[in-house]
Amino acid sequence: MLTLTPLHPLFAAEAAGVDLRQPVAPADFKAIEAALDRYAVLVFRGQDLTDPQQIAFSSLFGPLGKTRQADRPGQKLRLHPELSDISNLDESNRLLAANDHRRMDGLGNRLWHTDRSFHRVPAKYSLLTGHVVPRTGGETEFADMRAAYDALPEATRQSLEDLIAIHSIFTSRAVIGYTDFTPEERAALPPVPQRLVRVHPGSKRKSLYLASHASHIEGMPLPEGRLLLLELMEHATQRPFVYSHAWRQGDLVIWDNRCTMHRARPFDPAEPRDMRRATVADSASTLDQIDPLQEQGAGG
Ligand code: OGA
Ligand code: MN
Repeated sequence: MLTLTPLHPLFAAEAAGVDLRQPVAPADFKAIEAALDRYAVLVFRGQDLTDPQQIAFSSLFGPLGKTRQADRPGQKLRLHPELSDISNLDESNRLLAANDHRRMDGLGNRLWHTDRSFHRVPAKYSLLTGHVVPRTGGETEFADMRAAYDALPEATRQSLEDLIAIHSIFTSRAVIGYTDFTPEERAALPPVPQRLVRVHPGSKRKSLYLASHASHIEGMPLPEGRLLLLELMEHATQRPFVYSHAWRQGDLVIWDNRCTMHRARPFDPAEPRDMRRATVADSASTLDQIDPLQEQGAGG
């Protein structure tokens, strides 16, 4: 039976009592989904999932996205394309060179973001496993975007209601000064619009939908929109909204990308860090999302 222990006053819980290497009983799976709706981040210790076990369990939540690295011409993959390689290792498990594309690109994860907001249909859940974790540093921080939304003044909330932000993976990479992408890679992932405020279906709570992938706001002068995004990012990542996860080998952490942001923290680059992520796709673009609050009010 699933048991939950809160890890933070607002969100995030440690989950225990379920062995995810085995087929999960429907009642346990329902309890995990309900816990995700409430806590948005779930930490399972000591699961030690193999890659096939991680893919099998993650697929219960919906279709999995494929790693971007699979679309890079000539790029060798260390893992199955349904797992994003969040390590600093090459296909032979050696530390990547400091200037290796995979490392440079991966450093973008040090910026606050939510996964795949640069896809028209973004990510719903991410499931990240810790295979080799550094002795110090390398935490993953999570920020609660529902609590951040709730804490905004009412007038600000109203002014954000219908705004649309433009997201691109190349925006966050340009923030850290990395632009080495092929024209094909750029053409495959054109900028996409996403609502700035979404309703989280499982809790019916409103949430900010922010990421370092967002460059500006549709219909606003670029500097004005970017300043608004920067201001909201600063607001939403204040310490009271943040849970910091210190990894142990064998951990599985699941998070809801619709109502959280996350970022990786630095660690000694001479140490290996081997993390593997399965990414569950959402069912629609945020623009097409049914608003459960308005649905209630519409009354037929
Ligand atoms: C990710 C990610 C952060 C980390 O897997 O999507 O951003 O700490 N990871 O590696
Ligand atoms: Mn991420």
